[in-house]
Amino acid sequence: MRLDIVSIFPEYFAPLDVSLIGKARERGTLDVRVHQLRDWAHDVHRTVDDTPYGGGPGMVMKPEVWGEAIDTVCGTAVGAVAGTAAGGGSPRMIVPTPSGRPFSQELAQELAEEPWLLFACGRYEGIDSRVMEEYSSRLRVDEVSIGDYVLAGGEVAVLVMVEAIGRLLPGVLGNAQSAVDDSFAPGSMRNLVEGPVYTKPPVWRGHEVPAVLLSGHHGNVARWRRDEAIRRTVRNRPELAAELDPETLDKRDRKLLEELSFRVGQKDVAN
Ligand SMILES: C[S@@+](CC[C@H](N)C(=O)[O-])C[C@H]1O[C@@H](n2cnc3c(N)ncnc32)[C@H](O)[C@@H]1O
Repeated sequence: MRLDIVSIFPEYFAPLDVSLIGKARERGTLDVRVHQLRDWAHDVHRTVDDTPYGGGPGMVMKPEVWGEAIDTVCGTAVGAVAGTAAGGGSPRMIVPTPSGRPFSQELAQELAEEPWLLFACGRYEGIDSRVMEEYSSRLRVDEVSIGDYVLAGGEVAVLVMVEAIGRLLPGVLGNAQSAVDDSFAPGSMRNLVEGPVYTKPPVWRGHEVPAVLLSGHHGNVARWRRDEAIRRTVRNRPELAAELDPETLDKRDRKLLEELSFRVGQKDVAN
């Protein structure tokens, strides 16, 4: 997968050299290219922002600079990535913004299936809206929010997304099963968060590991893990638990939810 990231702070992306993502880059699973937006500014100060039309505080990122940056990155398609799925194609463009559609495990999975992503990191009050309008006719453009809070810039949001997407690529996780058992994973973990996890020693400062995990009985362990996932979701994320698909619940799930006095499908989820 190819990832292009355009930002006025390329140094923000140093963490992409380490850990799972760093190894995926070394192996060539991920081809990450970080670009300095100011390289496409032409004045002596390499200006990328200007005052907002309509007045108000803050600055807005200029469309001309973004246009040149995106055109250049898209223009590197043929040849630069020849022989890959992205050869000759165009990237899907992701614009982080608090006003975008929510980022989720489901969207991470969808994006992990793309051959090429282009991230446009906003700063100040964001990017002139005409940039998204312009490229929407040529590329698939998604404005994406990583949560209901406001960051100073899109760089951290892109790091979050790249890590979530990158770990889903084949061969990136040491054990592919980890992603299947994760919170929010499609399938039996949809709308559930993972329960507690433990390692050795069996007793630490008087706290014991639940006996079932030492039993070696795979069926009981799986059942316990599912029970704990349900309990924790009801406790910490009742709005998610309320959306559990009744079709995916077995008899034991339903009994546990009843014990927890939790009704799936309830909109009023105070518990
Ligand atoms: C200070 S914010 C701009 C906020 C904007 N005035 C608003 O209220 O929607 C600057 C940049 O940070 C990034 N950003 C801030 N919060 C974000 C979030 N929750 N998700 C994704 N990107 C975010 C975006 O790139 C945004 O253009």
